[in-house]
Amino acid sequence: MIPLPPRWMLFTGALAALALAIPPVVIARVRATPDPERAVHIFFDMDFQPKFKPQGQNPLFADGRAQRYDVAGTVAKGETKLDAHLFEGVVDGKWAEALPAGLAMSDEFLARGQQRYNIYCSVCHGYAGFGDGAVNKRAMELMSNSEGPVNGTSWVQAKSLHDPLVREHSLGMLYNVVTNGIRNMAGYGAQIDLEDRWAIAAYVKALQLSQNASLQDVPPELRDNLKKGEVK
Ligand code: HEC
Repeated sequence: MIPLPPRWMLFTGALAALALAIPPVVIARVRATPDPERAVHIFFDMDFQPKFKPQGQNPLFADGRAQRYDVAGTVAKGETKLDAHLFEGVVDGKWAEALPAGLAMSDEFLARGQQRYNIYCSVCHGYAGFGDGAVNKRAMELMSNSEGPVNGTSWVQAKSLHDPLVREHSLGMLYNVVTNGIRNMAGYGAQIDLEDRWAIAAYVKALQLSQNASLQDVPPELRDNLKKGEVK
């Protein structure tokens, strides 16, 4: 039988093994933490790339700007937005009353609109559209502080979508509000896809109808159910 080494040797050996594990761990940690300011660069990764940052200068151009306008008279690939109905919500110079060709009203389309509305709009306008979303409530709270708005908050009440004037907006106009914003409300054209913006506009119409419908708006065959409280 091989005699066991003395205890002190085992102990020192274990300690040495542990100590040896420290440098690789430290190196791995430093390698995994991006830090362009690091004093010693062993691996450059892609920390130093020649490039022009937004708002930067580029001496190549006469005006010295790195950011360039589109070349006049040209259209970038995929940017031909000739369909005014689809892209601007306008038909013959007026706000469109219907969905553009290629989009069809359906339960699915409205459900998608509802889901997107709940994500993007309900925070201010509320789930039912009364302008009472959580962000709006909180901002109004900060505004109504007795010693003046907290931290200089300034806020415009999110419109109730059941406001008589807003109820008159056609589908195309609602699409335009979602896309480009209106007065104090920012546009969502950059964040929400084209089709989804139409779906949201359609859902806003449905929301409005949900608070302001007459029996005549219900298909005749469903009216009896409505009286019995069975219509979804
Ligand atoms: C950050 C809060 C906020 C969000 C999010 C928001 N809105 Fe608004 N919205 C406002 C405010 C504030 C107004 C009123 C602007 C004013 O009167 O200056 C407004 C106004 C409106 C109006 C009324 C336009 C009119 O003619 O008066 C509509 C319609 C509307 N929003 C729809 C939407 C839809 C749809 C979404 C989601 C894509 C959305 N809003 C997201 C704050 C918001």
